[in-house]
Amino acid sequence: MLNLGILISGRGSNMEAILKSIQKKKIPANPAIVISNRPDARGLDIAQRLGVKTEILESRNFDGNRKEYDEKIAKILVKNKVTQRNGLVCLAGFMRIIGPELVRKYKNRIINIHPSLLPSFPGLDAQRQALEYGARYTGCTIHFVDSGVDSGPIILQKTVEIKKTDTVEVLSRRILAKEHVAYPEAVRLFALKKIKVSGRRITIG
Ligand code: GRF
Repeated sequence: MLNLGILISGRGSNMEAILKSIQKKKIPANPAIVISNRPDARGLDIAQRLGVKTEILESRNFDGNRKEYDEKIAKILVKNKVTQRNGLVCLAGFMRIIGPELVRKYKNRIINIHPSLLPSFPGLDAQRQALEYGARYTGCTIHFVDSGVDSGPIILQKTVEIKKTDTVEVLSRRILAKEHVAYPEAVRLFALKKIKVSGRRITIG
């Protein structure tokens, strides 16, 4: 069985969507551990309520030392049996960049969700970027994590039309609703071993 490690920093609504899909038996995976880099992340309470083990590894004290922080993350993952062989690490609103060593250690086993249609609008405030650019469509992207920012191979995308009346808040809410469908779906495909990676190209099925 696939062992999942989920990394969060805040609200945890994508984590919740994944955990609930597992509970409903839509994803054949074991939710092994939720790790937060912030002690006040709301998602920690949600995970505990859903009966999932949590750990806090504060990143505040590691600002100049990503490598050391990532090594500690890897230790927690391995301790909870989320390994390079049978694990998947889901970044779900985790507001830190993963360093190259951890990316290499879990090659094509770390995935992230981003609230735009990548490669458009990477980085922070993706919803605002799309709105201010005047894009007609945006959406969300689930991708493997490589050593760049929001640049790894794309697994799955969902589009959202931008309406004339949209504000950042309203648009973000519509994108988030799609995220909650897309992320569990991507994890399910991974758990079923349906994702094949060849360079940047991904085939499903
Ligand atoms: C989501 O919009 C996700 O796309 C981005 O951060 C936000 C996290 O929200 N990476 P939540 O913590 O999952 O509610």
